[in-house]
Amino acid sequence: ILSNADLERQVDTTDEWIVSRTGIRERRIVAPGQATSDLAILAATNVLEAAQRGADEIDVLIVPTCTPDHLFPSVSAITANAIGAHAAAAFDIQAVCSGFIYGLAQALALVESGLAQNVLVVGAEVFSRVTNPHDRGTCILFGDAAAGALVVRDEDGGPSGFLGFELGADGSRGDQLIVPVGGTRHPASEPFDPDDAYVQMNGREVFRFATRVIEDSVLRLLDRLGMTIDDVDLLVPHQANQRIIDHAIGRLGIDATRVFNNLEHYGNTSAASIPLAMAEARDAGALRPGMRVMMVGFGAGLTWAACFVRYEPE
Ligand code: COA
Repeated sequence: ILSNADLERQVDTTDEWIVSRTGIRERRIVAPGQATSDLAILAATNVLEAAQRGADEIDVLIVPTCTPDHLFPSVSAITANAIGAHAAAAFDIQAVCSGFIYGLAQALALVESGLAQNVLVVGAEVFSRVTNPHDRGTCILFGDAAAGALVVRDEDGGPSGFLGFELGADGSRGDQLIVPVGGTRHPASEPFDPDDAYVQMNGREVFRFATRVIEDSVLRLLDRLGMTIDDVDLLVPHQANQRIIDHAIGRLGIDATRVFNNLEHYGNTSAASIPLAMAEARDAGALRPGMRVMMVGFGAGLTWAACFVRYEPE
């Protein structure tokens, strides 16, 4: 656990500044030597246990992540092998903090088309390895985590619990949130400024984008379904910053009692943040069978994603 007090010793910041600007009090950080697949393996195992399914029943394993162990092989292939999902196809999705909802959209498409019966989606990130420990504008924000869900084809051919998706990307603003080095544009095999191997962010610009896109994507999706914000029993937003969430829910006109947040303990865990919040909402009794739940995320790309579901655990 990396607390705000720990960060006060690391950079020029205060607990008061971090809490008032972000709502974050602590984050989870991997142990030395651990990588993203180590978290994905734990989360995948937990999902299968909760769903009482064997790894051999998984047809496809999708890992939304932007912090993979390596450029390749994929985290999903490593994870599938480790958990014994030997019959599964496996691929990663790179949509950064929107990744989990993009992954759910893929899972639904695979299941509805008949290509798969059971699709495991595990968002997994180790942002601590791409965040500059000396940059106070970013190192306070991010944490490491993995969490997931199993999307199962209804044997009776009943209606899907998925009510709708709203996915998007605006690549023209990619430079607002970027890790410049480590890909093919600036390979790590060539000399580089060490700061460029870390997240570079225009915080104010991303803040503005996030508040607007949460509102826009949720309202567009509800409008398409002929519904309003009153039809949302629970809103589970990407856990980036409490101030972003407060601004957005103010604009949406949804009461804070119908919004689940846990970023205080984890910070922004990117593709893991929404499933982690869903799991904790379930455990806390805030997410109950039959509820209509709006998940909404945004992130680098810039990307956004909203998904409205009727939560129907098996
Ligand atoms: N502690 C103390 N001071 C800090 C600080 C920290 N951790 N980080 C930045 N500051 C300082 C800045 O240097 C600046 O000082 P200056 O006025 O002397 O130049 C001042 O605080 C204001 O900086 P600014 O960047 O305008 O602050 P902000 O109110 O926008 O808050 C963020 C910064 C990063 C918290 C905020 O912009 C944010 O959350 N943006 C969205 C980030 C995000 O969610 N990204 C992921 C999306 S998936």
